[in-house]
Amino acid sequence: MTELTDPHGPVTAAEAVAFPQDRTCPFHPPTGYDPLRHAPALSRVSLYDGREVWAVTGYATARALLSDPRLSTDRRRPGFPTPTARFANVRDRRVALLGVDDPEHRTQRRMMIPSFTLQRAARLRPTIQRIVDGLLDAMIEKGPPAELVSAFALPVPSMVICGLLGVPYADHEFFEEQSRRLLRGPTAADTQQARERLEEYLGGLIDDKARQAEPGDGVLDDLVHQQLREGALDRAELVSLAVILLVAGHETTANMISLGTYTLLQYPDRLAELRADPALLPAAVEELMRMLSIADGLLRLALEDIEIDGVTIRAGEGVVFATSVINRDAARYDDPDTLDLHRPSRHHIAFGFGIHQCLGQNLARAELEIALGTLLRRLPGLRLAAPAQEIPFKPGDTIQGMLELPVTW
Ligand code: HEM
Repeated sequence: MTELTDPHGPVTAAEAVAFPQDRTCPFHPPTGYDPLRHAPALSRVSLYDGREVWAVTGYATARALLSDPRLSTDRRRPGFPTPTARFANVRDRRVALLGVDDPEHRTQRRMMIPSFTLQRAARLRPTIQRIVDGLLDAMIEKGPPAELVSAFALPVPSMVICGLLGVPYADHEFFEEQSRRLLRGPTAADTQQARERLEEYLGGLIDDKARQAEPGDGVLDDLVHQQLREGALDRAELVSLAVILLVAGHETTANMISLGTYTLLQYPDRLAELRADPALLPAAVEELMRMLSIADGLLRLALEDIEIDGVTIRAGEGVVFATSVINRDAARYDDPDTLDLHRPSRHHIAFGFGIHQCLGQNLARAELEIALGTLLRRLPGLRLAAPAQEIPFKPGDTIQGMLELPVTW
């Protein structure tokens, strides 16, 4: 590999790689990242505007950097890297949890932890099962074929997060549409407007809850009647928390259900094995999380110089984490491109790592196990209703998933 002299350390031929890129197959890293897979754990990539940032592709380096407080997630800081022009224009907006550093982050996270523990997720399992069964009953009654994203993959997490937060599911078309525009709107104005509409909607809901004498039993009700009343949170902070919980709570899991189903249908032997032995489900969910790495491009900004792996990340430089490549680091995983339902748990970073590691991971795992397990059990003849290559999936600058999933059974 060509090496040039540079004050930062070795610069490799991977320098020219553009980030992010669209996937060629929805469950593999973009083939455009191949040079990164053979490059050192840190290489230079270029963003849409030509700016160069560091891309992290090695597992050990990723874990070290994701727990390094010298890397900030505060999107309001000048120089924070953005994957597209759309996001650059909404930079000054407040983003709770994911967009704040310690100590502010620690305060917000502590408030949220009781609502997202393993025990809380376990208590939600019967509710999740009822939701999943109800949606499958409706699909089966209507008869094949079906479009699985709208009939199942999206409504399952949407209904679950509404119940948990205390948001009326009757408004789902509105907030699903705004979330879609926020994450994938065609223009910056679109993204900006979607965020404002969500803030307005959730702000109104929070005001309604604040007026109620008796709190409801959602997480937002708890926050309104405890943290807001006691002054631990102000209204703007609470609205921002509600936005991230609602958006992150349904989009990501919906994508894992649709892409997870699509992927399993591409591996009939593994699918048969899973059907024969449902005890493999938790391992299958972890392996799908690793393989699919749907949040493919975590963003950070260096606040100070950081020496790592023989290079210096300078203060003010951007850092992106290519999770799809990190989760296939051959130094960490044997046969990393193989979907192996018996892989020993090797702590993938598909939920991130460090202080911002996914708050909803216990809930997401419960939803995925129940949704995928029940779908496979109740529809033993499940198959794609269109040629696999013709089914559209999401672009690389967003959370990966299927745009549609036509199935029959
Ligand atoms: C399979 C589904 C999911 C995936 C793949 C996923 C992935 C991630 C990742 C990678 C991060 C870290 C981002 C970073 O460090 O830059 C994250 C953070 C977060 N996720 Fe998830 N997530 C999922 C489901 C959920 C659910 C169901 C919720 C429920 C509310 C949720 C809420 C959050 C929140 C609030 C954060 C920010 C945490 C913090 O900064 O402290 N996620 N998620």
